Amino acid sequence: MSRKKIALIGAGNIGGELAALVARKELGDVVLFDIPDKEGLAKGKALDLEQNGAVLSHDAGIKGSSSWDDCAGADVVIVTAGVPRKPGMSRDDLLSINLKIIRNVAENVKTKCPNAFVIVISNPLDAMVYEMKKITGFPAQRVVGMAGVLDAGRFQLFLAREVGASVKDVRAMVLGGHGDTMVPVTSYCTIYGVPVTQLIAPDKLQAIVERTRNGGGEIVKLMGTSAYYAPASAAVVMAEAFLKDQKRVVPAAAYLDGEYGYKDLYMGVPVVLGAKGVERVVTINLTAEEKAMLDKSASAVRELIEASKKL
Ligand SMILES: NC(=O)c1ccc[n+]([C@@H]2O[C@H](COP(=O)([O-])OP(=O)(O)OC[C@H]3O[C@@H](n4cnc5c(N)ncnc54)[C@H](O)[C@@H]3O)[C@@H](O)[C@H]2O)c1
Repeated sequence: MSRKKIALIGAGNIGGELAALVARKELGDVVLFDIPDKEGLAKGKALDLEQNGAVLSHDAGIKGSSSWDDCAGADVVIVTAGVPRKPGMSRDDLLSINLKIIRNVAENVKTKCPNAFVIVISNPLDAMVYEMKKITGFPAQRVVGMAGVLDAGRFQLFLAREVGASVKDVRAMVLGGHGDTMVPVTSYCTIYGVPVTQLIAPDKLQAIVERTRNGGGEIVKLMGTSAYYAPASAAVVMAEAFLKDQKRVVPAAAYLDGEYGYKDLYMGVPVVLGAKGVERVVTINLTAEEKAMLDKSASAVRELIEASKKL
C-alpha cells in the first residue's frame, strides 16, 4: 500500500499546525503549499517539522512548495488559503478577498487533484466550500467544510467547565452556518448520556450558547488573529475519518439537496464521514425553536452565496 498524500493549501497558522498533526499521526506525506511570496515560509515550516519528526520519532515526508505540480494526485486537500479575521471583523467581511483566492485554488485542485477529498476551512466557510464544489464540479461527497467539529468542541469545553466534568464525557452538536447565526443544539447535548438541560440552569445554558457563537471572535479579540490549534485538529479529525474509513458522525458543512428542507446550499449538519467522503447526511428531529434558528442561519448562508455570485 502506497503512502497517502495530503496537500495543505495555505502554510499560515492553521496550515502549519495541520502539517504538524498530520505528520505526528503519520496519516501520509504532506505538501505544505503557499503562494510564491510565501514559499520560504512553506519550505521553512516543512523542514522544521521534518526535523520535529526526527526528534519525536515519527516519519512523514513534508515538502514546502509554491508549485501546484507538487500537490498533484493528492488524496486529501485541506484548504486554509485566504486571510483570517482581525479584531472587529465578521467572517463575512472576508468574502470578497477570500473568494478570489478560493476560485484560484479550486481551479488548481480541479486539474491537479481530480480525485481528492477536499476539506475547506477558509472563511466565510459556507460560501467558500460552496464555491469550491461549484468550480471543481466534484461530487458533493468529496467537498466538505470544517466548522461544526470546532464549534462543537468549543461548546463542549464551556459545558464541561460549567458542570465540572471532563471534556471527554461531553457530546454537543452545533449546526447551521459558521457565523453569528450558528445553532448550538442544546436538546442533543449530553454529559455521558445525561441531557445538559438536567444539569445546567436555562440562563447559564443560554450564556454558554452565546459564548459558543462568539467563540471565534473571543480569540480574535485576544490575539489579533484567528484561532489555529483547534481548527487544525478539527480538520484532521475529518481527514482521518476519510483516510481510515472510520464512519465518524460529526457536524460538518455539507451540500444539502433537500435535506432539512434546504436545496443547493452548504451548511452545518450531522454527517457520516468515511472512505467515500460525506457518506450520509443524518437527519435529526429539531424542536420548533431550533428549526426556526436553523432557517435563519440558512437564510444568512444563502445571502452570502448570492453575494458571491455577484463578485
Ligand atoms: N472554518 C473554521 O472554523 C475556521 C477557523 C479559524 C480560521 N478559519 C479561516 O481559515 C483561514 C486561514 O486562517 P490562518 O489563521 O491559517 O491564516 P494565515 O494568514 O495564517 O494563513 C493563510 C495562508 O494562506 C495563504 N494564501 C493566500 N492566498 C493563497 C493562494 N492563492 N494559494 C495558497 N495559499 C494562499 C497566505 O499566504 C497565508 O500564508 C482564514 O480564512 C480564517 O478565517 C476558519
